[in-house]
Amino acid sequence: MGELLRRYWMPILCSSELPEPDCTPVRVTILGEHLIAIRVTDGSISLFQEHCPHRRASLYFGRNEQQGIRCVYHGWKFDGTGQCVETPGELNANFKNKIKLTSYPCREQGGVIWTYMGPSDLQPALPQIEWSLVPESHRFISKRIQETNWFQALEGGWDYIHIGMLHRGAITLTTMTGTPDFAPAGPVVQEAVEMDYGLLFGRAQTHSDDRVYWMCSQLLMPSHKLLPHTEGSAYAAHVWVPIDDEHCMLWSIDYRTDAPLDAAEIGELERWFGIHAEVVPGTDRAVFNKTNDYGIDRVLQKSGESFTGIKGLGLQDAAIQESQGTIYDRTQEHLCSSDQHIIALRRYFLKLVHEMRAGTQPPGLDPASHSQRPQNAVSAKNVPFATVARHESVV
Ligand code: FES
Ligand SMILES: [Fe+2]
Repeated sequence: MGELLRRYWMPILCSSELPEPDCTPVRVTILGEHLIAIRVTDGSISLFQEHCPHRRASLYFGRNEQQGIRCVYHGWKFDGTGQCVETPGELNANFKNKIKLTSYPCREQGGVIWTYMGPSDLQPALPQIEWSLVPESHRFISKRIQETNWFQALEGGWDYIHIGMLHRGAITLTTMTGTPDFAPAGPVVQEAVEMDYGLLFGRAQTHSDDRVYWMCSQLLMPSHKLLPHTEGSAYAAHVWVPIDDEHCMLWSIDYRTDAPLDAAEIGELERWFGIHAEVVPGTDRAVFNKTNDYGIDRVLQKSGESFTGIKGLGLQDAAIQESQGTIYDRTQEHLCSSDQHIIALRRYFLKLVHEMRAGTQPPGLDPASHSQRPQNAVSAKNVPFATVARHESVV
């Protein structure tokens, strides 16, 4: 799976976390690798192994100066590419030439620093994800650490039935889905169709007018979600990035394509009732987390105002997904028909891993394929979702 993930650009930091040349280094752990990110003197980003190849001191404590980083233990200096350029005290002047840090290319787009950790000859261009291309004033980004495997969190992202239960309360179902008819009053049909960017998911309910309303969301490879959209509201997206096997970074984005997010919208987002969660300043740790039971308010829960007594969609998801365990035991679960999208996700990724081993290129490497926008659909009855997905049956 790691080889598959390494074929894609992944977000690691907000650009604002490395605000100026030669600023303080930042620790980054991604795909189990401990790395350091710096903005070097010319303003570009450098991402490299944390531990100095001399005697393994952490380069986090290094001096970011003159187009590179200098280890403070014995003064070895590495340039922005990771090449060792100085080894003070070393008798062999050529010794430094054979020392190079493991490093990964970085780019900035959409107020975010992205890295590519795969084979250099297979490096694609940056994905053209809409939220990363709108002006800075049009988007709101937050991120927080989740204490689960990234795929477990991804599964939670496509668990539709929980929306009408777990999230019942402070934010109404009407706000969540755009129409009360999407409340899980009865069985729903869930389908997933393979697209060039990943998967298109649809959840259908037939209305009294006999038309079928499809609430749609996209998985853009490898782990981007475009959330179902409600007319007039901002668009929303997630990205789950593996930190290690038992932690991931959940990025949440609200964005508009046609206008800046206004002060009232941002004020609402910062009340933390939606997908964004408040973090301890200067960290990616949610203020309410596992150690304080996510701030659960049992009186509120009992009042019926909130199904969980936990404030905010994001924290409600975090509480439940972390409660499953960091890598929960799938042999003990009992999947049912309402878990169709989770089954589709698992089958899809297993298929991609097998196909890649057999030499097939994974999907979504063409940057233009990520140029998608959340869009619900309406169809006549009995039209397969694959047809709806190709926009051939919208009524
Ligand atoms: S451990 Fe870094 S220079 Fe010696
Ligand atoms: Fe949720």
